[in-house]
Amino acid sequence: MTNSPTILVFDSGLGGLTVLREVVAARSDAHFVYVADDAFFPYGHHSEDEIIARVVPLMGELIGTHDPDLVVIACNTASTLVLSHLRAAYSVPFVGTVPAIKPACAQSRTRRVSVLGTKGTVKREYTKALIRDFAQGCEVTLVGSPELASLAEAALGGASVSDNDILAELAPCFVGDAEDAGARTDTVVLACTHYPLLLDRMKKLAPWPVDWIDPAPAIARRVSDLLGARSGDIAQAGAEMIFTSNRVHGLSATLTPFFGGRALA
Ligand code: DGL
Repeated sequence: MTNSPTILVFDSGLGGLTVLREVVAARSDAHFVYVADDAFFPYGHHSEDEIIARVVPLMGELIGTHDPDLVVIACNTASTLVLSHLRAAYSVPFVGTVPAIKPACAQSRTRRVSVLGTKGTVKREYTKALIRDFAQGCEVTLVGSPELASLAEAALGGASVSDNDILAELAPCFVGDAEDAGARTDTVVLACTHYPLLLDRMKKLAPWPVDWIDPAPAIARRVSDLLGARSGDIAQAGAEMIFTSNRVHGLSATLTPFFGGRALA
């Protein structure tokens, strides 16, 4: 048996866990290092220059320390900005997380799609280019949410988050004639990895039913394709969780399911 491949999964906080759980399910042979850059959370509130200046050197340090075979940038706010910089700077393969506008527009029957992301992600030229290239005639509404990532993070940490606070962030996604199922939004792209953490509540609060597009399963397939055949020794396939703030988290019971039940180092 050869060594387990090491996959480093990176986000500004805990949202990337929604990508991690799919990758773990697809690659039980891999060793996982999850890095939450919580010292700089939320990325959605930082300028483009600040995010590039933060993530590119930090990734160099993480690659130096953990020597990953592949890195997943499990953050739309970062991926839509830094992927090209990371690929230019480091030779390790990167898989990004970007708004799933193409599949959403391909499947929408009412031709009305909303993209729910951080304020940073919806402003990006990258996101606008995806709409230009892949909207396929759909009317795409960009919804930049200031607080939903922080609300998701708080809810996962056990804090109480009100329905009203979630609904205030969600409501602008629902456009068109509420009374006419053929003339209103039918598809919402979850363009921030934190949002699937609140999906059950968002489904309950939505003014009408829609399809929610989470790119995590597609990312897991891409990671698996890039790594190739399973080769690792499952006995070496552990999991580590790193917070850049160095905080000691008390969340093991909450977090281990995202790691497929592995004990966290
Ligand atoms: N999880 C990040 C994303 O996918 C965003 C959260 C933040 O603002 O840091 O965009």
